[in-house]
Parts: sequence; C-alpha cells; structure tokens
Amino acid sequence: MKVSVILLAAGEGKRFGQKKQFVKLKGEPLFQYSLNTINKIDLIQEIILVLPEEDIERIKVFSFKNVVKIPGGKERQDSVYNGLKAVSNPDIVVVHDSARPFATEKMFIDSIMNVKKGWDGSITAFQVKDTIKMVKNNQVVKTLNRDELINVQTPQSFKFEKLIEVHEKARKENIYGTDDAYLMERFGYKITVNRGSILNFKITAKEDLVLAECLVRGKKPF
Ligand code: CTP
Ligand code: MG
Repeated sequence: MKVSVILLAAGEGKRFGQKKQFVKLKGEPLFQYSLNTINKIDLIQEIILVLPEEDIERIKVFSFKNVVKIPGGKERQDSVYNGLKAVSNPDIVVVHDSARPFATEKMFIDSIMNVKKGWDGSITAFQVKDTIKMVKNNQVVKTLNRDELINVQTPQSFKFEKLIEVHEKARKENIYGTDDAYLMERFGYKITVNRGSILNFKITAKEDLVLAECLVRGKKPF
C-alpha cells in the first residue's frame, strides 16, 4: 500500500506573531522536526510539504525521502486540499501539522496501521485530563462528561479516495472544519483513535515555544 504524508507548514502564525514553522528550536526550524521523524518511517513513500507561496524557493529541507514543495491556501483546509491534489494516487494519506514537532514515529505508524486494518481514518488523541465546561457570556452553562472527551492532535491518517471525496464536497457546500476528521465524520465515515500524548502539543502561542525549548534543552520553564 502506498502512503503519502501532507506536512502542513503554510500558516501565518497569527497567534504566535510570526510564521512559527520556520522558528528555530535548538538550531533547526520547527517543520524539520516532523520531517526527521517521517524520514525514519519505512511505511511512508511520499512527502508533500505545504508552504506559504512566497517561501517555497528559499526554504531548504533535509530529507532522505523525496520532498515535493507546494503552495498552501487561505485556510488550513485549503492547504490540505492543495496537498491532496499534489499526491500521486496513494492508498493512504497522512495529514500532519508541522506545528507539532514532537509527534512520534509510533503515532504515525499506529494511525497508518488502523487505516490498513480497514478504518476510514485514525486520529491521534488522548483522554481529556481537565474538567471541560461550556460557557456563554462568561457564565457556565454545563459540565461535559470527561470520560467521553478526547483531545485531538495530528498525525491523522485516511483512505485517500474518501478524504479527497469529502474535501470536494466540503468545498462545494462551503463547509470548513478545524481538522480533516471532522469532514470525514460529517459525511458518515468511520474514524478511530490512536494514542497521542500531552507532549505532542501544538506550538500555537509564544509560551508553547518556551515549553518546547525546555523539552529539547532540558531547561526548567520557571
Ligand atoms: N496551516 C497551513 N495552511 C494554512 C493554515 C495553517 O498549512 N492556511 C498549517 C500551519 O502551518 C500549522 C497547522 O496548519 O502547521 C496548524 O495550524 P495553526 O496552528 O492554526 O497555525 P497557523 O494557522 O499558522 O496559526 P494561526 O491560526 O495562529 O494563524
Ligand atoms: Mg490557524
């Protein structure tokens, strides 16, 4: 079975204050961490790196596997769609946010294997640890049942044919979701979960980079 990865690095980093995918963490740009992990996985044959159009030429990548650089779109979902148009007819496609530098080989492999076993998709996630409440106008509306909640991350793997089908439908109906699994669920496909970790956090704001630096350099945050 052919497996392709769409590695997303085309965001603007509005909450972070700059394009965080290019920020250096212990000497390497953030997106390179995911590439290093993907390079170790024999199951993966193709890597599509989605970048802001203006950065495609200047960005250098280090990879044993061939990396195809393509321009992203306005929203994350548009960038995934561009990636789906660029892959060369795989059986399984893995979508990963380069803003998660600490995704492990095991997370990629578990997610891919679940699709190989027959699921339409498999998302990396872990059981919610905090109590989660719904609020409106700063007033608590209700407390959600923690046992039924998971914290969703990437990598996320899918049957290629089905993911491209739901992306085409979503474009026609102007539906936008914060992850790909949302579109799959919406159109009735069966998604399972593979084990994630709190350490696979997404660099979103500056404080997340402080935490990442503590992890890679063994420093104390406070
Ligand atoms: N991404 C992308 N194309 C977009 C938007 C996001 O490829 N049009 C990528 C980002 O580079 C990131 C991942 O999707 O690796 C997750 O998105 P997010 O954390 O929201 O990053 P940004 O969109 O860059 O940040 P912000 O929302 O704060 O602007
Ligand atoms: Mg974003």
